[in-house]
Amino acid sequence: MVIDFGGQYSQLIARRVRECGVFSELVPHDIPIEQIETRNPAGLVLSGGPSSVSDAGAPELRPELLELGIPLLGICYGMQAMAKKMGGKVEAAEAGEFGRTDLKIVHQGRLLAGLDRSQSCWMSHRDTVFEAPEGFTALASSPVSPVAALEDEERSLYGIQFHPEVVHTPAGKQILENFLYDICGLKDTWSPVSVIDEQIELIRAQVGDARVICGLSGGVDSSTAALLVHKAVGDQLSCILVDHGLLRKNEAQQVVATFKDNFSVPLIHVDARTRFLEKLAGITDPEEKRKIIGEEFIRIFEEEAVKLEDARFLVQGTLYSDVIESGAPGTDSAGAAAKIKSHHNVGGLPEDIKFDLVEPLRMLFKDEVRSVAEEMGLPDRMVWRQPFPGPGLAIRIISGEVTKERVAILQEADAIIQDEIREADLYRELWQSFAVLPVVKSVGVQGDERSYAYPIIIRAVTSDDAMTADWAKLPHELLEKISSRLIAEIPHVNRVALDISSKPPSTIEWE
Ligand code: XMP
Repeated sequence: MVIDFGGQYSQLIARRVRECGVFSELVPHDIPIEQIETRNPAGLVLSGGPSSVSDAGAPELRPELLELGIPLLGICYGMQAMAKKMGGKVEAAEAGEFGRTDLKIVHQGRLLAGLDRSQSCWMSHRDTVFEAPEGFTALASSPVSPVAALEDEERSLYGIQFHPEVVHTPAGKQILENFLYDICGLKDTWSPVSVIDEQIELIRAQVGDARVICGLSGGVDSSTAALLVHKAVGDQLSCILVDHGLLRKNEAQQVVATFKDNFSVPLIHVDARTRFLEKLAGITDPEEKRKIIGEEFIRIFEEEAVKLEDARFLVQGTLYSDVIESGAPGTDSAGAAAKIKSHHNVGGLPEDIKFDLVEPLRMLFKDEVRSVAEEMGLPDRMVWRQPFPGPGLAIRIISGEVTKERVAILQEADAIIQDEIREADLYRELWQSFAVLPVVKSVGVQGDERSYAYPIIIRAVTSDDAMTADWAKLPHELLEKISSRLIAEIPHVNRVALDISSKPPSTIEWE
């Protein structure tokens, strides 16, 4: 169990522990002790955090954690809080250490067993442990940190000043493994795929004989959740695909082919393309578009849902990162007062439709969902699909009305970009890559004739979480090929531009 003191890398610690084949949860530092006891962890990791141990109100190491009698590993702030509590000398160093730092191991102990004396590690701290508390052995030092690692084998307390979870600490995995396997006595038996059977049992127990519905968008989360539920309760599941006509080229057909034909999942395909276009007629304001699309989507979903008798459960592709962000981590999805996560940035389903949520992915990170999806046989295209906004192509038609013709242009342009990016083997490296259509026209010359047509803007970014993003430095030859194809193959396009702005200050989408 990772106790989160608010560090930048807390989620990453839990992910790394899982990569060692050990299930790990991230919980807030002030979680009631009884809740820790109920979960019965084999070891605790205290994360880093933004506070200084000398700040008034900085979170302290609660003595009850020590009384649990299970091994404890403090990382960065976690180690400082532990050292301070145990009577060590922890103060602000004159200059902190930030980034790659040399580490000298003077004593391997149990935590650093098997490591070379000289290591490189990643540091990010100002407070420093100058003297280890009584009973502890100092294991390593760095230029600024006289005690960069310590342990008290007898009480099973361990600490490191650096970050084993980041790739810039090459021995990080070995240190975590020493802690998990040797010190906590754990074995590498967990994997995301091991969740499949467990979830199938849980879903059966939760749902009984009732009917379950699921809104499919073609994204990896809702698709994987639907497949798990289908495996658990078969045709008690009905999926609803609301095709608003703003999906990528052929995407609705792909979802239908995969689910209906391939997996024999009951699927209601609602062709609502005309209905959405009518609602969007004359609308240019981005937020108004979102609102209209969101509301219409919910209305259609509701119309279909009420036709299904005894539909009491709704499948949601909620992920562990959503759970952590909502501040309600836990292993128990049944009865959790979770808010319906809308793909459409609206408040969810109307009050009078009540569903219990089935959230089979709520303990998994995104990468882990992809492993489950692969294991369950979801096609590669869906497993690795880049994120796509709920309102779809409507928010990529800029400063103009959404029309059938413009959507068709954008679908063609998007398909060419996807094609070429895949061909260049860059699809998985990019967070998103797509086309934007600003509703302006410019003059060109094609053949011997003057043209007056739209430009297409290529948008491609790298990112870890969409909170920040860098514009992707695509190879010139690739850009050239995309540009030629866009102009040659789409009659209404005569110019191509590249968006070279990062987020912030720009956003990934243009609206
Ligand atoms: P921005 O443009 O804010 O986008 O940098 C961040 C991420 O969110 C996606 N996005 C949306 N997703 N409904 C969604 O479901 C929306 O209205 C919406 N707007 C942006 C965007 O594609 C990117 O991945």
